[in-house]
Amino acid sequence: MTTAHINAQPHDFAKTVLMPGDPLRAKYIAENYLQNVKPVNTIRNMLGYTGFFNGHRVSVMGSGMGAPSICLYAHELYSDFGVENIIRVGSCGALQAHVALNDIVFAMGATTDSNINLIRTNGYDFAPIADFDLLQQHVSIAKQKTLKFHVGNVFTTDLFYNSHTETTKTMTRFGVLAAEMETAGLYCIAAQFGKKALTICTVSDHILLNQQLSTSERETGFDTMIDIALQSLDT
Ligand code: ADE
Repeated sequence: MTTAHINAQPHDFAKTVLMPGDPLRAKYIAENYLQNVKPVNTIRNMLGYTGFFNGHRVSVMGSGMGAPSICLYAHELYSDFGVENIIRVGSCGALQAHVALNDIVFAMGATTDSNINLIRTNGYDFAPIADFDLLQQHVSIAKQKTLKFHVGNVFTTDLFYNSHTETTKTMTRFGVLAAEMETAGLYCIAAQFGKKALTICTVSDHILLNQQLSTSERETGFDTMIDIALQSLDT
């Protein structure tokens, strides 16, 4: 069976799917962390794989960038491929002075400038939130590893390049931790299908302080997040 964007069979995906934005990062996770890996999606090069970590069956697939992209993949994974948990592993831009480059942000909820959820809920202001169990499991692993992390609201924006500084100021004033581009959409789709989702982000840039991680620093941060997400399969 094939959906519009995934050319896989119904049982090709594991119950848990890790979703980086970049499909090459999905390939990297499959090649470097998983055993007995099988490719499960190639449409539009949105590469997906299923393999095993410590004996646990797990899948990885790119989400693309932005809420429309992650929403269509999450929709098909939840509705047609038996997926129960989607863990977005991405990057974000810090909106608070106390959030530093390389810190980890767990998105407990997501504020957005996107209309995507208003369309989905026919104009109601749905509050997109993480699944509590997934959040708790992943946060406790980050604590055990003594990592520097934050739990709170993220700003899911449609504009990576936003010249309206008032928007940033408002988000900062309201305590939003960081900006990213997918979580509000993902959490709403999870709610629509009665499934679970969590976003974990590494701070790749600082919007207030105008700082950025180098490419190699980004890779290290990415590995830390993957370690947390995969270790949670053991819990
Ligand atoms: N993802 C990583 N950094 C970001 C930023 N500054 N804004 C939106 N999404 C991001």
